[in-house]
Amino acid sequence: MENNRSYSVKFFSGEEIPLELHKVRIVQKLNLIPIEERLKAIVEGGFNTFLLTTKTVFLDMLTDSGTNAMSDNQVASMLRADDAYAGSQSYMRLEESIREVFNCKYFLPVHQGRAAENIISKVFIKPGDVVPMNYHFTTTKAHIEINGGSILEIYTDEALKVKSQHPFKGNLDTARLKEVIKKYGASKVAYIRLEASTNLIGGQPFSIANMREVRKIAQKHGIMTVLDASLIGENAYFIKQREPEFKNKSIKEILHQMIGLVDLTYFSSRKVSSTRGGGICTNNLEIHNKMKDLVPLFEGFYTYGGMSIREVEAMAIGLIETLDETIISQSPLFIRFMVNELERLGVPVVTPAGGLGVHIDAGTFLSHVPQTEYPAGALASAFFLISGVRGMERGTISSVRDANGNDVLADIELLRLAMPRRVFTLSQVKYAIDRLHWLYKNRKLVGGLKFYEEPPVLRFFGGKLKPTSPWPEKLVAKFRADFGDSL
Ligand code: F0G
Repeated sequence: MENNRSYSVKFFSGEEIPLELHKVRIVQKLNLIPIEERLKAIVEGGFNTFLLTTKTVFLDMLTDSGTNAMSDNQVASMLRADDAYAGSQSYMRLEESIREVFNCKYFLPVHQGRAAENIISKVFIKPGDVVPMNYHFTTTKAHIEINGGSILEIYTDEALKVKSQHPFKGNLDTARLKEVIKKYGASKVAYIRLEASTNLIGGQPFSIANMREVRKIAQKHGIMTVLDASLIGENAYFIKQREPEFKNKSIKEILHQMIGLVDLTYFSSRKVSSTRGGGICTNNLEIHNKMKDLVPLFEGFYTYGGMSIREVEAMAIGLIETLDETIISQSPLFIRFMVNELERLGVPVVTPAGGLGVHIDAGTFLSHVPQTEYPAGALASAFFLISGVRGMERGTISSVRDANGNDVLADIELLRLAMPRRVFTLSQVKYAIDRLHWLYKNRKLVGGLKFYEEPPVLRFFGGKLKPTSPWPEKLVAKFRADFGDSL
């Protein structure tokens, strides 16, 4: 692939339309059921979109995790899986991909991203340690805390601004990093973690300039740096788009730069390579050896790590495809289209457009719903109810309670509408925009939620809630009044 080729396609009409550079060859029929049936579904699901069955879902924008479309080459590769407990040739091909894409010598396979977090936290965190990071991810935080550590989020002032023009809201605040190291002492800092296309602040990238600064500080104090590369393809794409130094670099060169600036990289393959699985890689043999023994203990033998061998094959191909700009840009371009349209319609949405998905500012959208009644959760339920589009709450429900049992209110209340790679068509995206627009016009009809079943750990997965008033029925009535017998 040429380094400086432009992949943009301009339309004579002047419209900015993200053109699909792939064709659909296997399709799955979707269900768009009447709103009355969706009301039943969301009540049964405890107003938690995780508890919906896909039979009731039209567009599944819950996540891009394990739901990106696979390529023909990935599916084909699964047929040549060399099923062997040890020494499989499929694994050798995966190692080759890791070397090519991540430029890493040592690799450990695991069954998914959080399994990597389990191993890294177990090995490197001592009780009382801190882990500074640009922002937490739910499973990351849980693993660090269960091993006696705590997280310190040291994002910049831009990070939590819903409306921003800043190209790199995922940057870590290096001035604060220095303060943190001074305050806790380098020996208490287990490692510094950077998360590519920072998930919970809206899929926002960091720059290589920022990575270089973090690296310098870390090296000065002898602190290890860890990269969560689950969304590294998108972050690399944004670096190419937004960081002038890298305008003419290939995605591969950018990836190698990024990986070269940290000691240890881990990822969820459910995202990065459009498969399942995950991995940990490094060029530091000492770091590798510290973790190695935990793979057969928790995951499986070194050459499959809890994954099926078919998955290992598809992952090897999927990683190589991360180098293809037309593939890794597809989701960001669709996201940008949707964000631009929503902004035009006045619907509050996180800007600039990032990776992973479109993030609706539920706090502003439902400003009349108190944060203690979970506006992001209410918006996720209301949007599913009126459209069949399933998003994910990323607000206070995704947080935890403090020692006194009080909700720790989230920094921002977001409804995430994930854009899995090469899954949806533009008319489906337009449908989602249209229904969101309608909901925004009718937002005053939406009320809050309260828990009636609340698991103590990661409550957003299994918790059940109910509305604080009969607002869902009112929303259904308004939908019927406006749309007649439309689905
Ligand atoms: N790190 C990041 C940045 C993630 O986004 C995820 C998963 C993980 C680690 C954990 O990986 O699911 O393979 O165990 N994110 C998914 C999501 C769940 O929907 O955003 P996993």
